[in-house]
Amino acid sequence: MGDSPLIDSLRKAVEAAPQDVPLRLHLAGLLLDAGSVAEAVSHIGTVLAAEPTSAAALDLMQRAVGAPASSQSSTTAPPMPPRPAAPGWESDAPSDDPTADSANRSEADLESEFDWDAAARDLGDLAAPMFLDGDEELTEPAYDLEPSTIRLADVGGMTEVKKRLDAAFLAPMRNPELRKLYGKSLKGGLLLYGPPGCGKTFLAKAIAGELGASFFSVTLADVLDMYIGQSERNLGEIFATARRNAPCVLFLDEIDALGQRRSQLRSNTMRGTVNQLLTELDGVGASNDGVFVLAATNAPWDVDVALRRPGRLDRTVLVLPPDAAAREAILRHHLKDRPVSKIDLAAAARRTDGFSGADLAHVCETAAERALLDSAATGAVRMIEMRDVDAAIGEVKPSIGPWLESARNVALFANEGGAYDDLLAYLKKRKIL
Ligand SMILES: Nc1ncnc2c1ncn2[C@@H]1O[C@H](COP(=O)(O)OP(=O)(O)OP(=O)(O)O)[C@@H](O)[C@H]1O
Ligand SMILES: [Mg+2]
Repeated sequence: MGDSPLIDSLRKAVEAAPQDVPLRLHLAGLLLDAGSVAEAVSHIGTVLAAEPTSAAALDLMQRAVGAPASSQSSTTAPPMPPRPAAPGWESDAPSDDPTADSANRSEADLESEFDWDAAARDLGDLAAPMFLDGDEELTEPAYDLEPSTIRLADVGGMTEVKKRLDAAFLAPMRNPELRKLYGKSLKGGLLLYGPPGCGKTFLAKAIAGELGASFFSVTLADVLDMYIGQSERNLGEIFATARRNAPCVLFLDEIDALGQRRSQLRSNTMRGTVNQLLTELDGVGASNDGVFVLAATNAPWDVDVALRRPGRLDRTVLVLPPDAAAREAILRHHLKDRPVSKIDLAAAARRTDGFSGADLAHVCETAAERALLDSAATGAVRMIEMRDVDAAIGEVKPSIGPWLESARNVALFANEGGAYDDLLAYLKKRKIL
C-alpha cells in the first residue's frame, strides 16, 4: 500500500532509535489509522516484549485486535468491530427486519477474509482474551502484584528522602540479625507527602523494584466497593495478605482519599473504611510485626489525625520539588533512552527551578515531540538537540503553584504541634512566606 511520507520518515526514525518506545508507539498508531494492522502489531509486540505492562502499548494492541479494554475500564472501551457470525447463527436468529439479513450478510462477507481465530491464537500471549471458556481464573488479587522494573538508582536526587527510607525499613528488612539484636521489630508506618508530581509514587515503585515480592501496592480502586461492608472486608483481606507475607512493605497511595478526616466525610460508608484502616494499622486481632506501612499523599492535612498517631503513620517525610542536582538526574533519566545529541543537562537544570519531576518528564517528552515533528516535516531524521530542550522549557509551565498556595495556608495557620515545620522551612527558603 502507498504509505504517507510521515509514516515513511517515522519508520526511519524508529530504525535509528529502536529503544524509543513513544516514537515506536506513535508509528504503530499511525499504521493502525492507515490500516496496516500487521506492521502495527509487530511494533506494538516489540514494545510489549520489553515493557509488558505499558498501558499505551496495551491500548494500541486492543485497538489492533478489536478486543475490549481491561475489565476495569470496560465502560469506556471503544466499540468492538463487528465479529462475523458463526455459521448457522444467522439462520437461527429471529429477524424482525427482512432487509437486515442481506445487509448483515454482505458485511460478514467482507469480514470473512479475516481469520479471527488465527489472530486470537497469534495474539494470545499479548492481549486479554475476548471471551472466557470457563476454566480461567476469574478472581483477581486485591492488590497490585505486577513486578516493578524501576530501581532506586532510577530516582533522581532525593538523597535525604532515600536515606530516611533506608533507615526506616530498607536496612532493617535486609538485616534480620540486627533486628533481633536490638529487639526491634519491623512495624509502624511512614507518610510521604509533598506537591504533586515530585516522585512519591515513583519512589514507591522504585522501592517495590528493590524489594520484589515483599512489596504490596494498594490504591483506592483496590479497596472501594459499592456494597456496604465490602470495602472494609477488602482492606482486611489486604492487611491479612501482608501479614502472611511479612516482612513486607504495604504501600497505600493517595491515602487522603482512603483515610480522609472523618469530620469532613458526609457519608457513613467511607467512615467505616477509615475506622477499618485504623483497626488494621493497630493490628487488632493480629500482630502487625514485620508489616511496614508506607503511605503517600499530597494533602496530609486532609488525612484523619488519628491515622498519624504513634504506632500508625507516625513519621512523615516531605518530598520536595527536586533541587538542581536532582533535576539534572531526572532529565538524564528521561532522555537516556532517546536519540539525543549535545544536551547541556546542567544548563537545563538551572533553567527549571520550581519544576516538579513530572514537569521535567513533560519537558523531555515535548523536546522529543519537537524533534520528531521536525524530522517528519523535513523528511530527514535528526537527533533531539539542546534547542528542542530549550524550547520545551519555555513551553512547559511549573505545575506546583496551586499546591504551594494551600501549603502556605496550612503552614501559617494549621501547623499544630510543629507537624509541618519542614514545610515551613522550605516555604521560607523559597521566600513564599
Ligand atoms: N526523582 C525523580 N526521578 C525521576 N523521575 C521523576 C522523579 N520525580 C518525579 N519523576 C517523574 O515524574 C512522574 C510523576 O511522579 P509521581 O507520580 O511519582 O509523583 P507523585 O509525587 O506521586 O504525584 P501525586 O502527588 O500527583 O501522586 C514520574 O512518573 C516520573 O516520570
Ligand atoms: Mg502519586
